[in-house]
Amino acid sequence: MADKKVIRTIGVLTSGGDAPGMNAAIRAVVRTALSKGLKVRGIRRGYQGLLNEEIIDLSARDVSDTIERGGTILQTARCAEMRTEEGQQKAAAICKKYGIDGLVVIGGDGSFAGAQKLANFGINTIGLPGTIDLDIACTEYTIGFDTAVNTAMQAIDKVRDTSTSHERCSIIEVMGRDAGYLALWCGIANGAEKILMPEEHDYDEEKIIEDIQESRKRGKKNYIIINAEGVGDSMNMAKRIEEATGMETRATILGHMQRGGSPTCKDRVYASIMGAKAVDLLLEGKTNRVVGYKHGEYVDFDIDEALGMTKGIPAYQYEIAKELAL
Ligand code: ADP
Ligand code: F6P
Repeated sequence: MADKKVIRTIGVLTSGGDAPGMNAAIRAVVRTALSKGLKVRGIRRGYQGLLNEEIIDLSARDVSDTIERGGTILQTARCAEMRTEEGQQKAAAICKKYGIDGLVVIGGDGSFAGAQKLANFGINTIGLPGTIDLDIACTEYTIGFDTAVNTAMQAIDKVRDTSTSHERCSIIEVMGRDAGYLALWCGIANGAEKILMPEEHDYDEEKIIEDIQESRKRGKKNYIIINAEGVGDSMNMAKRIEEATGMETRATILGHMQRGGSPTCKDRVYASIMGAKAVDLLLEGKTNRVVGYKHGEYVDFDIDEALGMTKGIPAYQYEIAKELAL
């Protein structure tokens, strides 16, 4: 068996969509590594920045006053070149040039695929799950979801106030083009009458219209539809619903405000622990792993295995959401 690679310098980057709590993870990587005698390099703008050699040294003070900040102090990017074998080879060569023998990649499945390729080219890599979408199969927690879902919930509460006052139907579009977790959680937390998610294929506008009419007969003062981004067009849906029901209908698109803001306590704590764990895994000689949280414990999986896992919207939770809309 080959000798374990000695890790002296750790790199850290954020990739894909930003998420609140990424800074807490970066801070934990930096300070855990420094306290264990390692050197730390920060890579700006994800894989694009790696390919452009936007690499800086990070000290403990560089991450002061960052745990409470949203976004990512390293910036993030999406990078087409990293999807090519030449790009991946170049990225691995740049890591070697800068002495980066262990790399922590904070992002989603796409970012992990990049980390997997770098591992194949000899760079020890660990992925941390960072996305507001909660759509990473190997983990019950992703950095940023808790903050985003609370931000969305508070915004929806505000829309509900005006919706009730005017006795309107409100369509509120939350993020998650390919994943309905934000929509489902807000649907339950905000007591929505209808939740539209990309995973559910029963989107039937006629049924919604009938349900709105029924609910008015039952004395409901408003009708809240949580629409995951990408399921139908909220603005046009509002026009059609108003025409068919006679109930004033407005659409609100929450958009990127859900991705920003100061992370919740949960996101700060979980991201900090995951950041520290990534460094410990690298020091144990592990590579091509992704950190997750399952059944109350922080765990790690082989990236190949993690990318092969699938998870869907829990059917029982969706059923409960429907029942509670009575
Ligand atoms: P996320 O990490 O949130 O899933 P993306 O899917 O946009 O976000 O991926 C982020 C970046 O990861 C991409 O812009 C690209 O640079 C890199 N990436 C995605 N898929 C692959 C892949 N199959 N191989 C190598 N790199 C990839
Ligand atoms: O993955 C995070 C996310 O915010 C999704 O919920 C959303 O569908 C997508 O990113 C939006 O991406 P962009 O930042 O390119 O608008």
